[in-house]
Amino acid sequence: MVESKGWNWKIVESDQEEYWKKPSVESYYLLNRWSIQDRKEFLDLGCGLGRHSILFGKNGFNVSCFDISQEAIDRTKEWAEKEGLKFDYKVGDMIKLPYSDEQFDWIYCRNVISHSDTEGIKQIIKELSRVMKKDGECYLTLGSKDTWGFKQESWPLIDANTRLRMEEGPEYKTPHFYADYDLIQELFAEFKIIDVHQEIDYYEKQGKVNSSYHYHVLIHKIWKRRQYEFK
Ligand SMILES: C[S@@+](CC[C@H](N)C(=O)[O-])C[C@H]1O[C@@H](n2cnc3c(N)ncnc32)[C@H](O)[C@@H]1O
Repeated sequence: MVESKGWNWKIVESDQEEYWKKPSVESYYLLNRWSIQDRKEFLDLGCGLGRHSILFGKNGFNVSCFDISQEAIDRTKEWAEKEGLKFDYKVGDMIKLPYSDEQFDWIYCRNVISHSDTEGIKQIIKELSRVMKKDGECYLTLGSKDTWGFKQESWPLIDANTRLRMEEGPEYKTPHFYADYDLIQELFAEFKIIDVHQEIDYYEKQGKVNSSYHYHVLIHKIWKRRQYEFK
């Protein structure tokens, strides 16, 4: 398994920082979906600067913030304190989550899980399943094999699905795992997959328009007994 490597938030430029401080579009859908249930234990896995922790915290969820980067946790804490919000904070590697079995109703994991290799991803999914309550849900994104990064043949291929990103910047030498639809079905076979779709994001960089493809996946942890009944 490749060694985990988080983001270096200290070198993120201020215009990019603005992006990382606004909640993503789908977070409002999930906020709506999850708010109507009386279950509040929320894990922001790979919280970054805390944009989703703040959104869910302001809306009455009990938020746990987790990231491998101390800087990310410090920045999230500073922001939450300014907003008068109290969260739980932990620094660590998602390969081994420091939480008890079935602790969370909802896990938000946007642009995080792909920072590993195939063996690592499988281990992370085991950990997600362990810390999710029965009937809990997890939203996560995965880089798509259609994206340009996977096609960079000069970037080291660590296994059939993983490349090291060699672009200068906060993700330099970070492993990136890329999926396709069949691989997603295989990886999440023990869950009910509520939604899986691929999106293209367009962004401008140094005057050029770039694009990247991601899968957005929403999974539901089914009861073992119900899993059996479904067969
Ligand atoms: C692209 S940022 C996304 C941040 C946040 N989810 C958001 O949407 O704003 C990825 C985050 O995942 C964290 N991360 C990467 N690998 C990790 C690991 N093995 N364990 C925990 N966090 C990790 C990085 O440090 C970084 O803060």
